[in-house]
Amino acid sequence: MKILCGYNANIDAIYKVDGSQMAEMAESYREEISEKIKDPPGFISSIPDFFAGLFTSMEKGTGAEWMVRDKEVSRWLRNNFLEGSLLRMGGNMGIMANVLSELGASRVIPNVANPSELQMSFFSRKAIFIPDGGEIQIDGSGGAFSTFESDENELIHFVFDFKKGEKFRFIENIISVPRENRFIATYDPLNFELHIDEQFSRYALEHIGEMDGALISGYHLLRERYPDGSSYVEKLNRSLDQLKEWKVLNNKLYIHVEFGHFSSDKMAYDVFNSLFPLVDSIGINEDELAMLAHMSELDTSGILEMDAEAILETAVSLCEVSGPGRVQIHTREFVLSVASDMHLGAEHILETLHFGVNCAAAFACSGKLDERENLLKIASSIGRSKYGKEQVQNIADQIPSGDDGITREDSIFRKYREHFICAVPTRLCGDPVATVGLGDTISSAIFLRELELRA
Ligand code: GLC
Repeated sequence: MKILCGYNANIDAIYKVDGSQMAEMAESYREEISEKIKDPPGFISSIPDFFAGLFTSMEKGTGAEWMVRDKEVSRWLRNNFLEGSLLRMGGNMGIMANVLSELGASRVIPNVANPSELQMSFFSRKAIFIPDGGEIQIDGSGGAFSTFESDENELIHFVFDFKKGEKFRFIENIISVPRENRFIATYDPLNFELHIDEQFSRYALEHIGEMDGALISGYHLLRERYPDGSSYVEKLNRSLDQLKEWKVLNNKLYIHVEFGHFSSDKMAYDVFNSLFPLVDSIGINEDELAMLAHMSELDTSGILEMDAEAILETAVSLCEVSGPGRVQIHTREFVLSVASDMHLGAEHILETLHFGVNCAAAFACSGKLDERENLLKIASSIGRSKYGKEQVQNIADQIPSGDDGITREDSIFRKYREHFICAVPTRLCGDPVATVGLGDTISSAIFLRELELRA
């Protein structure tokens, strides 16, 4: 399979959070932080903003990504957290490109905003092809602890990984983390612009007829307003024009977009509605679904609790309102695909979701990508989410199987409200090496298997 990948690759600096240490660092900003916690800004212009974001995420156990708007704060983050961070491939696209390459795609062409030596060292060696640089020579896809003097131009996102059960005191409150998750502090001028490399665009156009698919992400890094007064619209349109042109030149090209956590609901809604009719499927998590549902004035209750029936009802409504189209919702406990059309046979759709779940579980446990056979072998020993199984069963109880329904291996395929539904529980490893990038891993593995089964 030959696949174009746009747009965001960066370096992730994964920092394991020690709550008490963070509370100590935050001590001198305590008043400002507690004010900001009451009314979270959603982006980072100061050190207290950063702590407010981190502590809010930890207290709720939710994932978030806040943009750093101030270069000084980004320096402060580097000075305090780079040492001791694990550096890895970051950015949904960078992660997904590596998954495709490791799992057996024949050629994967990524758009790389800053192709520095360090950034390139994190790409898989197997099938990645850089239009002007040829094959990747160095394989650092397993990650490395930071030992280098930080170059200010490297696009580094700080991923603060926190564990369930972590407990610490901040001011008078005890913060107790209900669920493992991560808070990302991102300073990334190029990816904020949805940077499209010229060589990438040229290569894509010249070879579009040979391509099987395109895997696209990075829109969530757009800003409503840029320092030069421009807005995200023109950057979004540049990308929409590119995707439209690809589709015109190759009507078999299968495009999946991985959505992401936006800094503004309005922008997320606008981007979603621009992309949904244009691409073949969009991957989102439950936080993103809740936000889109809220903006579409749909019922949001139960979504954040990962109630599968609530997620299903809302996802079908979203497809009706914004579609036709296909959304794939990946949560910690299950994956649910809702589609207006059958893009594959029912058996095959089930197979693709199982494949994605298995690859992601093995990746979560080992922290490494590996040959497909090895990943699947590791996955077979990882248990299915109990909560996920119950949720899928709830849907099964609710929707009769009918003639074409399938119920198998804790998973289901159903026709419901004129849509095609497929749900599979995830596999959960007790002590994941990292939670960042799991949604990307699931989506890209599903995507690759879809391309293979469509061929
Ligand atoms: C976002 C972040 C990036 C992270 C990725 C994981 O793209 O910007 O740092 O690697 O999410 O999904």
